[in-house]
Amino acid sequence: MSSQVKKITVPAFREAASSGQKLTMLTAYDYMWAGILDEAGVDSILVGDSLAMVVQGRSTTLPVTLEQMIYHGEMVARAVRRALVIVDLPFMTYQVSPKQAVRNAGRILKETGADAVKLEGGAIQAETIRAIGRAEIPVMAHVGMRPQAVRQLGSMGRVQRDEQQLLDDARAAEDAGAFGIVLELIPQDLAQKITEILTIPTIGIGAGPHCTGQVLVGPDMLGLTPNFRPKFLKQFADLRSSATKAVRDYVSEVQHGTYPGPEHSHR
Ligand code: KIV
Repeated sequence: MSSQVKKITVPAFREAASSGQKLTMLTAYDYMWAGILDEAGVDSILVGDSLAMVVQGRSTTLPVTLEQMIYHGEMVARAVRRALVIVDLPFMTYQVSPKQAVRNAGRILKETGADAVKLEGGAIQAETIRAIGRAEIPVMAHVGMRPQAVRQLGSMGRVQRDEQQLLDDARAAEDAGAFGIVLELIPQDLAQKITEILTIPTIGIGAGPHCTGQVLVGPDMLGLTPNFRPKFLKQFADLRSSATKAVRDYVSEVQHGTYPGPEHSHR
């Protein structure tokens, strides 16, 4: 990538959306993958709290800590030259009070170099979204299926169909000052309606093609996460199979004495 690369800021992200451009977002959790995503031209990189499941092997997103999000967020932000970097506020780092949320969102911006934070909730988090915005910290909301509410929802994979609730949540997030909103696992017609009503970009995951943009968990779309095939997911590669084959070949070649060969050895 040239050294003239133009960084996508929060205003640029919003402008791109209002000019009709489809926005792309993927998750990343470290320097190497964030660099690949950035070079490949993704508009935004989310350091999602999905790292609890994808990187740490947990069954929900609840255990990941603020310190861990900052640790990963900093690695991602350091790799990125162009994309907008957003870091999730993890469970219980913003639900206690707007004051707690501002303090922790501020830590994320200061200590990672990211551009913005994301939190889950619409109407119930409106006061918090407003408070974070007043501290000049750009904040994205996330409505529909909210993984941090898994204990209340009972499971994470169910499509959310309460139209009035979703419309209220989306409007509340925009009115409170969110610069964008993730719509997770909602019917496509409803996602279209929300996208038409709001002026801020909607970023869908399992919400159909009519959102302003799309987000996927990076390792899921690269085929790195085993046994996870929700309807909305398209695997654009099968890197787990390629990686497994490469490691098997290495093991076999070392065991059979064919690696290292003369071309890999110093005289
Ligand atoms: O944590 C995450 O990866 C997310 C995306 C699925 C939107 O919130």
